[in-house]
Amino acid sequence: MSAGMGGFWPEPWLTRSLGYPGLALAAALLLLVLCLNARRTRRPGEPPLIKGWLPYFGQALKLQKDPLGFMTSLQKQYGDIFTLLLGGKYITFILDPFHYTSVAKNQKLSFQIFTNKFLKRVFSIKKMLTDSDLIDEIHSTYQFLQGKHLDILMESTMQNLKQVFEPQLLKTTSWSTEYLLPFCNSVIFEMTFTTIYGNILADDKKTFITELKDDFLKFDEKFTRLASGIPIELLGNIKSVRTKLIKDLTIESLAKLQGMSEVVQRRNDILEKYYTPKDTEIGAHHLGLLWASVTNTVPTMFWAMYYLLRNPKAMAVLRDEIDHLLQSTGQKKGPGFSIYLTREQLDSLVYLESTILEVLRLCSFSGIFRFVQEDLTLHLESQDCCLRKGDFVVIFPPILHHDPEIFEAPDEFRFDRFTENGKKKTTFFKRGKKLKYYHLPFGLGVSKCPGRFLAMVEIKQLLVVLLTYFDLEIIDNKPLELNYSRFLFGIPYPDSDVLFRYKIKS
Ligand code: HEM
Repeated sequence: MSAGMGGFWPEPWLTRSLGYPGLALAAALLLLVLCLNARRTRRPGEPPLIKGWLPYFGQALKLQKDPLGFMTSLQKQYGDIFTLLLGGKYITFILDPFHYTSVAKNQKLSFQIFTNKFLKRVFSIKKMLTDSDLIDEIHSTYQFLQGKHLDILMESTMQNLKQVFEPQLLKTTSWSTEYLLPFCNSVIFEMTFTTIYGNILADDKKTFITELKDDFLKFDEKFTRLASGIPIELLGNIKSVRTKLIKDLTIESLAKLQGMSEVVQRRNDILEKYYTPKDTEIGAHHLGLLWASVTNTVPTMFWAMYYLLRNPKAMAVLRDEIDHLLQSTGQKKGPGFSIYLTREQLDSLVYLESTILEVLRLCSFSGIFRFVQEDLTLHLESQDCCLRKGDFVVIFPPILHHDPEIFEAPDEFRFDRFTENGKKKTTFFKRGKKLKYYHLPFGLGVSKCPGRFLAMVEIKQLLVVLLTYFDLEIIDNKPLELNYSRFLFGIPYPDSDVLFRYKIKS
């Protein structure tokens, strides 16, 4: 899923949603938390404690406004480990990449406790809170997103991409103009849904996918609020939207689709063991998987396109690299959609891969969360660090990704940053030492994204198709900012959008 406890961010609409009685109760609770917060002081051996002047929310406002700037200033002042009060929770941030392993390997720091609450709040999945066998079995299905299973998924993504774009390819050669974000939303949603869940055979396939996507986007828009623990009843009609989505993803509804992936087949087998066939929680599990598979892939594709459209030189190098591969594998760009690349061939496109890694480096703002189950001491390279039961620990890779000692001019988009002499570059240094971890948009350890290979394959294939068959141009070439409302929860969306145009290459 994603870094999922939420509850750190103040919401200006809270007053409107709660009404006056609710507000009075909230104020009383706030006062209580305020008193408790005020009492907490730093104990010997604990990291510096930064509570800020704003009760309960602590440093949340400053962090949400300018996450990197604020964290960098705290790092200068307090060092690489400190505890922040955010939304009533104490969170210890770990910024030194040489400390990551100690956190990731500590058995007393739990990812599962953390994520189970999130699954309940956002998707209404309750059984994961109580049934560890179910958790283990669900996790075992992730193998179907990797290795030889990925080859099958990859063939399927290419077929599905063909279906998305073939009508365009058969159309005239005039320019189509669109906003970039809805374009990425439509293409990634359709491609991912059909690859994982299968194709609908009925004539109204487009309508079904479009409606599903629109409902999904409405639901996703409320994601931060749901994750924050705001009851769904206070969020307008989102409960009925979620119920509808869950209904579209029951075993019965999915049975109408053709070409379901192994991961979903296996998931269904497992879910049927733990639930009665009509239990709506089965659909909720699928909504969770669908959400995880789309929510970060869309903004990654968005930022990749945005940076490429604004960097004609990078675009030209990528086109060249792809053309070269197509020629060397004897493939011609015929009038239809005919190219086929194996996984090995796709992986040999080093500049394409570097471009995506660079986008993820610049745009990933995920935190890697763990829940402290009991008081403990982390033995770190340079110091010991005491952690308190009930707090959270967060590895925060954006600081690593923007460290000028590791990445020269870290705010610049350099499409070839992860290449060296025409090959993949995998060695990066800090304080003269080679880094084990230098790029962590997909998390680390037990919570590492199981869909990372599929995500890379999807984005690569989509970019190959777009660069091979289409002329692409940005229309309003304006700088965009990241919208940090989902800060700590993955890849941010843009704060606005840009128009671009595309037409079939003549
Ligand atoms: C660029 C795209 C993607 C990014 C940046 C990304 C990132 C992440 C991250 C950071 C986590 C860990 C969250 C945490 O620590 O709380 C995660 C978890 C997860 N991701 Fe992805 N992801 C991407 C695409 C995908 C895709 C395509 C799938 C397809 C199925 C997927 C499936 C999952 C699942 C199932 C989990 C939860 C794993 C668990 O519960 O242990 N992700 N992802």
